[in-house]
Amino acid sequence: MADSRNKLDVHDLKPVIDDVLQLRCEPLPVVRMAFVGLGKRGKQSFQHFLYIDGVEVKALCDIYSSNLDEMQKLLQNFNKAQADLYVQPEDWKSVCERDDIDLIYICTDRSKHAEIAVYAMKNNKHVAIEVPAANTLEECWELVNTAEQTRKHCIMLENCCYDYDELALLNLSRSGFFGEIVHVEGAYIHDLRFLDFENKAHYLDLWKMNGNPYPTHGLGPLCQLLGIHRGDKLQSIVSVSSGQFNYPEKYDADNSSLTLGNINTSIIKTYKGKTIVLQHDVSSPRPYTRNYLLSGSRAYAEKRNELRIAVSENPSVYLSADETAMLMAENEHCFYKQKGELARKVGAHGGMDFIMDYRLIYCLQNGLPLDMDVYDAVEWSCVVDLSARSVVGGSAAIEFPDFTRGRWDKLRKLEFFQ
Ligand SMILES: NC(=O)c1ccc[n+]([C@@H]2O[C@H](COP(=O)([O-])OP(=O)(O)OC[C@H]3O[C@@H](n4cnc5c(N)ncnc54)[C@H](O)[C@@H]3O)[C@@H](O)[C@H]2O)c1
Repeated sequence: MADSRNKLDVHDLKPVIDDVLQLRCEPLPVVRMAFVGLGKRGKQSFQHFLYIDGVEVKALCDIYSSNLDEMQKLLQNFNKAQADLYVQPEDWKSVCERDDIDLIYICTDRSKHAEIAVYAMKNNKHVAIEVPAANTLEECWELVNTAEQTRKHCIMLENCCYDYDELALLNLSRSGFFGEIVHVEGAYIHDLRFLDFENKAHYLDLWKMNGNPYPTHGLGPLCQLLGIHRGDKLQSIVSVSSGQFNYPEKYDADNSSLTLGNINTSIIKTYKGKTIVLQHDVSSPRPYTRNYLLSGSRAYAEKRNELRIAVSENPSVYLSADETAMLMAENEHCFYKQKGELARKVGAHGGMDFIMDYRLIYCLQNGLPLDMDVYDAVEWSCVVDLSARSVVGGSAAIEFPDFTRGRWDKLRKLEFFQ
């Protein structure tokens, strides 16, 4: 028998302090917010909060004053108090240091997400961070360590977890409809060539990355289905990238300015033996899809462009469109029952973005654990780093860190607190 005494078991790694699983904080009847980064995404999200009661916008921060003025005008149009404006590149620090703010909402480009979030938590603020929350393993650990030390909420704004179909399918899976979920697939396939990567600073950064630089839209809902760090955990990843055939003259996988291939495919295995296929492609002429697929022991679902479901009694035939729609309606998630109408009216992406922001404020107001925690943020974001390491290593298998330090089976399932 092998001597295991020298083998480091992850369960031996005691957290320096307690974990922040299902963290509860003081209820905040009025959530006082600051926004850092008000570009395309920040402006879109900012507008949701004009429709949510019990929110005060205290500060707006961007390095372009035109962005600030636009949002200030919106506050005025909605008869809300004016916010203080911050325009210098380092002003986000002063925003974080204020003592009349509860939540910093971070929508800068990805290079500053973790840095601002860590600084904000150290200044006693909850943080909501756009995707991906972090770019490297080091940043991931910094977010976890800081959230644990400061006992502040750190949520990544993964809006796809609030998609109507993804939530209904999550409901359906909990009813046992799919049996044991064995395999899932997801993707970010979005033809972004029109964004002219070469001329926009942070999109150029994206092109200089390798592996899967934007994994969380596909991976988030899949991890919720599989109960990651709620009874299972991500174990290892292998990743392979195609060459770059749309910009061959600029592409040099080994060494150069542009290293992002057309299509990256990763396969992730969980501790309990489930598999996840995850893809990334922003430079091929293809329709947008997150290529959702769920294969269970009793039923199957896929959402490429339309949602299709098959059951084990008749596996070679998909349910009809009417049967599928009825199943979805029967399993409509309570978030959509509560706020679907308003969400579709004021929020982007079919309402899921508004539902996410509404839930964030609702949980903070009521002192409830948030729907997604810091461990979700880093488990999904660390694929940026791990997939690149795998590709560079010839598609070598790379182990996931256990960011919960052995607490991945302390919770039995994902809970949405009401
Ligand atoms: N969840 C989604 O569906 C979704 C969609 C689009 C973008 N995003 C994410 O949102 C983030 C922003 O993307 P975008 O498309 O809005 O980019 P953008 O370039 O339009 O906006 C980024 C903003 O950050 C500001 N900024 C940069 N440095 C700053 C600093 N030091 N202080 C204050 N402001 C600063 C910029 O001036 C800019 O206005 C990215 O991380 C992206 O990945 C998410």
